[in-house]
Amino acid sequence: MRDDYYFCMLLMNTSAVYILGIESSCDDTSAAITCNDKILSNITAGQQVHELYGGVVPELASRAHQQNIIPVVSQALSEAKITKAQLNAVSFSRGPGLIGSLLVGTSFAKSFGLALGIPIIEVNHMQAHVIANFASRADEKSFTSPSFPFLCLTVSGGHTQIVKVTNHLDMTIIGQTLDDAAGEAFDKAAKMLGLPYPGGPLIDQYAQKGDSLAFKFPVPVVPGLNYSFSGLKTAFLYFIQKQTLLNPKFKEESLNDICASIQYTIVQILLQKLQLAVEQTGIKTVAIAGGVSANSLLRSTLLTMKQKAGWDVFIPKFEYCTDNAGMIAMSGYYKFLANDFASQDIMPVARYPF
Ligand code: KG4
Ligand code: ZN
Repeated sequence: MRDDYYFCMLLMNTSAVYILGIESSCDDTSAAITCNDKILSNITAGQQVHELYGGVVPELASRAHQQNIIPVVSQALSEAKITKAQLNAVSFSRGPGLIGSLLVGTSFAKSFGLALGIPIIEVNHMQAHVIANFASRADEKSFTSPSFPFLCLTVSGGHTQIVKVTNHLDMTIIGQTLDDAAGEAFDKAAKMLGLPYPGGPLIDQYAQKGDSLAFKFPVPVVPGLNYSFSGLKTAFLYFIQKQTLLNPKFKEESLNDICASIQYTIVQILLQKLQLAVEQTGIKTVAIAGGVSANSLLRSTLLTMKQKAGWDVFIPKFEYCTDNAGMIAMSGYYKFLANDFASQDIMPVARYPF
């Protein structure tokens, strides 16, 4: 890729490629600027409005994206200290995601590209999560990225995948969930505990003070490298109902232990299959990505695999784990080098297989 890069620079007779990335697939409106393979700015506006409803309300998400998109782009440009005239391309999340939300980012990217007379680049949001492992700022001197090929456990609110990554643009899913995603398992467990959406970070927080072996939950038996979390969700529901009948204050009194135990089970399930994937492929370079990769137990357990099993482990910085445009701009940069541009009649897609 470095050779491609210098070839590209030579062709363009320029020293820097500036990409604007736009992310609007769910409930975060984000804009980022990259200069070559370095992040200059990464601005995200979250949407508190959904907390009231216990989950993302698609119509409200689209409206909030409409309000947020211009301010986040302006802020991303000013923090990057460049003008829009310096941009070489605009990349955007095309899918998967909520179609109304994706339409806002896609329409913005198309209009901005057209107005500036620069190409647009479509990005698969799940592939971009993997690319988050290459995201860093120019001043992060000790930063290293995974070498190819590597395995990436991509765990978000809607997806759970083990991806074999051959290069920045070539990825294959070798295992995935057959039902709920790991983030969904965290969020649904949190909802049953009366915690607000998104519950994953709160479970992580309460778990810090709890005993992960206080309660035992079933680990599903699923063939191959695939996952399943729906059985765990049901078992958790019955467990909470039964214990609450015995002690109406059970949830409040045992919150830390419940959170620590369910978190331990989800992380155990995730890592068992990842370990199997390493054994089957012989690839020991392992990365994580997606919102759930912000989970502290998943991160620390993965780091122990470095010592125990000799894995080469890569964990993105928190800001590149959850939905962010930095990963979209980075993906856009690699596609820019490959001359992989989209046409103006492109539409977003709710489902977007690799
Ligand atoms: O990647 P992401 O920001 O959005 C999607 O593309 O889905 O992931 C959001 C998911 C939510 O389910 C959220 O609860 C979960 O990531 N999450 C966490 C943590 N931080 C975010 N789950 C467990 N522990 C965390 N610290
Ligand atoms: Zn995501």
